[in-house]
Amino acid sequence: MCGIVGYIGYNNTKEILLNGLEKLEYRGYDSAGIAMLDDNDINLFKVKGRIAALRQRVNDTAASTMGIGHTRWATHGAPSAENAHPHQSTSGRFVLVHNGVIENYQELKRDYLDGIAFGSETDTEVIVQLVDKNAEKYGDTAEAFRQTINLLKGSYAIGLIDKQDKETIYVAKNKSPLLVGLGDGFNVVTSDAMATLKETDQYLEIFDREVVLVNRNFVEVQKLDGTAVTRSPFTAQIDVSDTEKGTYPHFMLKEIDEQPFVMRRIIQEYQDEHDRLKLDQDIRSAMKTCDRVYIIAAGTSYHAGLAGKRLLEKMAGIPVEVHVASEFSYNTPLLSEKPLFVFISQSGETADSRSVLVKIKEMGHPALTITNVPGSTLSREADFTLHLHAGPEIAVASTKAYSAQIAVLAILAVDTARAKGFELDFDPLQELAIAANAMEVLTEQKETIEELVRDNLGTTRNAFFIGRGSDYFVCLEGALKLKEISYIQAEGFAGGELKHGTIALIEEGTPVIALATQENVNYAIRSNVQEVVARGANDIIFSMKGLERDTDAFVVPQVHELLAPLVSVVPMQLLAYYAALHRDCDVDKPRNLAKSVTVE
Ligand code: F6R
Repeated sequence: MCGIVGYIGYNNTKEILLNGLEKLEYRGYDSAGIAMLDDNDINLFKVKGRIAALRQRVNDTAASTMGIGHTRWATHGAPSAENAHPHQSTSGRFVLVHNGVIENYQELKRDYLDGIAFGSETDTEVIVQLVDKNAEKYGDTAEAFRQTINLLKGSYAIGLIDKQDKETIYVAKNKSPLLVGLGDGFNVVTSDAMATLKETDQYLEIFDREVVLVNRNFVEVQKLDGTAVTRSPFTAQIDVSDTEKGTYPHFMLKEIDEQPFVMRRIIQEYQDEHDRLKLDQDIRSAMKTCDRVYIIAAGTSYHAGLAGKRLLEKMAGIPVEVHVASEFSYNTPLLSEKPLFVFISQSGETADSRSVLVKIKEMGHPALTITNVPGSTLSREADFTLHLHAGPEIAVASTKAYSAQIAVLAILAVDTARAKGFELDFDPLQELAIAANAMEVLTEQKETIEELVRDNLGTTRNAFFIGRGSDYFVCLEGALKLKEISYIQAEGFAGGELKHGTIALIEEGTPVIALATQENVNYAIRSNVQEVVARGANDIIFSMKGLERDTDAFVVPQVHELLAPLVSVVPMQLLAYYAALHRDCDVDKPRNLAKSVTVE
């Protein structure tokens, strides 16, 4: 994780770096720093904490026309000013920012840097000390940089400044994301185009194991042996207003509210001029010819994958396995003869998922990535991509990407079913439009949910979510949302499973949130509710219109039951939001987390 921004141009370096870092805070926010080069020296500012703290710390130094900045999510060494980036070489000549993990940093330290006094506990500092040492040896910074990069094992996105060279930011990348943004008389470096959109919408992709020399007037991409590479820029398709909160108090609330619009955008994007489903022919034939789908994902995306399994199996008749990415890489199950791997990832950068992708590509299997970021690593490295069209998701807790993932999986399931010649009593575009309207109704019921939170989750230390069938998957997601932003210990359970042990935790007043949107299990889940109520639980039932009972706490509008997760998740997201607000938690940036998890 971690976010990097760099600027070389004519003015305003400090603001461009700080504004960029603020936009990158979703990638990590436990410490931060910037380094700016002026006529005489490198001005370095580092703090433990957020960019707001860094802003206060940075004084108005002499006008600077180049600099690099970093916002950190700690991997090696606790969050502190010493461990914050940029790191400076002992001689003071070089400063460097890094996102990723250097796996061989201890060997490098032992083999090349004996006797050097390190100022931090990070793996990163090894890189800047090595560059300094190589600069003495080769007498040329570009060569020293390439030689250093050649020694690194692991993942990295790097920006380096040499005090003796006011014309270049040295950049390199492997596995971690990094782009160069192109301007008129200036250029930028960034982990995410969103952070520097105000400066430019023209970006140059950097491939793994490439080095880039970024000057204010030109950019030179090189392979590690120094040979030049030519590449055309692309236009970042992001609307600046999508990256702002507008009148909302939090990005999370804005993103919850955006879900109906996201559904409508998906309908538009996956519809041809005759109102029929539009999907890449190659994806269709990969889905049709595979004998089993393996869905690989993490966290919320894994929960969407569970809903996707049900859609694909019910409609397209394909057996589907859903795997937590971090488990699959190390404990690969027996595979079928013609597997198709489907990676679900909002960011498209999740390291756990990527390591599975690398592995299954080595095995020669096809891969489809469903992501919100089409140019992301998982998208580039898979054979096919389906785009979520959800717009940038900035709150750390994922909301609109989850519902977009389920909607796109529903479209994929129907398209595959039709390709296989199955007759379906389900028009996905029409059913999604109905779900979008239902979501809109739900987003207007915030006061009711806020009241439910006040009455039921106000001071509780734990909560359980129970459901059966696809309600169970939404319970897993509801519990994850609640715990990650409100810090209430919460668990999602299959309704029938609670009594096999966990029911021991039910005490007088323990909140048990039950979902009842599935007709075939409506009776069964209500029996499970009775079991916990008999032991003192405070039941809060969310049912679907048509299945409701008088004592239910909340009734969601009726939609096709295969799409029920799209609507039942909205009140779960709002529950988490208001619980976090009620407890004064930092809704958009919960503790210990980062939006894009690029370390395994
Ligand atoms: C929770 C959340 C995470 C992500 C997970 C995977 O709200 O956002 O659980 O879903 O880290 O991230 P992506 O989808 O980017 O691969």
